[in-house]
Amino acid sequence: MIILSIETSCDDTGITIMEATGGIKNTSFKVLAHTSNSQIKQHIPYGGVVPMLAKREHLKNLPILLEKTLKEAKRNLSLNLIAVTYGPGLEPALWTGITFAQELAKKWKVPIIPVNHMEGHILSVFGKVEGKFSIKLSDYEFPMLALLVSGGHTQLVLIKKWLDYEILGETLDDAVGEAFDKVARMLGLPYPGGPEISRLAEIARKIPLLRGGSKRRGGKKSTSPATAGTPQEENFHLPRPMFYIKDFNFSFSGLKTAVLYLIRKIGKLDKTTKSQIALEFEKAAVECLIYKTKKAIEEYKIKTVIVGGGVAANKYLRSEMKKITGRNIKLLFPTQELSGDNSLMIGIAGYLQYMKNKGKIPSPSSIKADGGLKL
Ligand code: KG4
Ligand code: ZN
Repeated sequence: MIILSIETSCDDTGITIMEATGGIKNTSFKVLAHTSNSQIKQHIPYGGVVPMLAKREHLKNLPILLEKTLKEAKRNLSLNLIAVTYGPGLEPALWTGITFAQELAKKWKVPIIPVNHMEGHILSVFGKVEGKFSIKLSDYEFPMLALLVSGGHTQLVLIKKWLDYEILGETLDDAVGEAFDKVARMLGLPYPGGPEISRLAEIARKIPLLRGGSKRRGGKKSTSPATAGTPQEENFHLPRPMFYIKDFNFSFSGLKTAVLYLIRKIGKLDKTTKSQIALEFEKAAVECLIYKTKKAIEEYKIKTVIVGGGVAANKYLRSEMKKITGRNIKLLFPTQELSGDNSLMIGIAGYLQYMKNKGKIPSPSSIKADGGLKL
């Protein structure tokens, strides 16, 4: 079956064409064409994604990417299925993909399968942007746990059965990626902030003195710069919200506000201080994710852990996840290209859902954007 998938939930436009074979327990994919177009440059001046601007860009990009993918895949009208993201995400942006899919479905007389973007992020760990890949269910043990970390979501999802999801916990306020973006903005770094914070944190990590080499007063971390005026000896400490709350929820808004107060207290930020703040923020945010993930692994006797979403690209998160999973738990990450939003993961999820729900395909005109769609 030839499947064309479309992603337009936020600021990335993507179209992928894959050949899919097999059932849901043993599926093989061959990537025929994979394209994406990031709108980051357009949104940078606004410090974040502007929904109406995203819509305009998707409308402009979709026909261009379609032509490119069809040419690359060397196929014109022999497609069998269209998969399109219908939520969660920015509704004006989602609608552009849905309307585009509906027009193509009418023209080519093919069914449309609506896809949950978050399911896409979960399944992205199995994908590759080139060549062939397969998902053989007997290779993985259940229960699985998915940590979904993006600009819009922070969720811990329990998967006891293939393609069946139970949300154990989620953020009560900001998503972790959103917190990275907002803190980056406070530090005067460009959007998207995650990679920028990570880059600065790496710099600070490499210089031992910046890693809190100062003597901690009373053996405790201070909540403010320990020695103002000598940046190398400053030692910041930010809170780890929700550590002592027994559920699996997260909260990043307090952490973000703590950074704001810290910055106000310091006043003028030099490069060294910025790196130190970035390092402590990254540590605090990742520790929050790790703490609850570890708790869920223990409580549900998890055998396989999946990390998906834009923040899954974070190197520190990756190394800390390796520490808590050890040898007995299989740990799956998407490739760097598939960590962020992409249409390939939508194709995987679309095909698997199509196989699962055979015969129960909604009529193309009934598909609607749902910005707050749950897993
Ligand atoms: O999944 P995604 O591409 O889009 C959404 O569905 O939100 O995630 C984007 C988010 C942004 O907040 C971005 O700052 C964050 O992922 N991000 C990172 C890194 N790379 C991207 N956060 C931390 N470290 C990174 N290396
Ligand atoms: Zn996403």
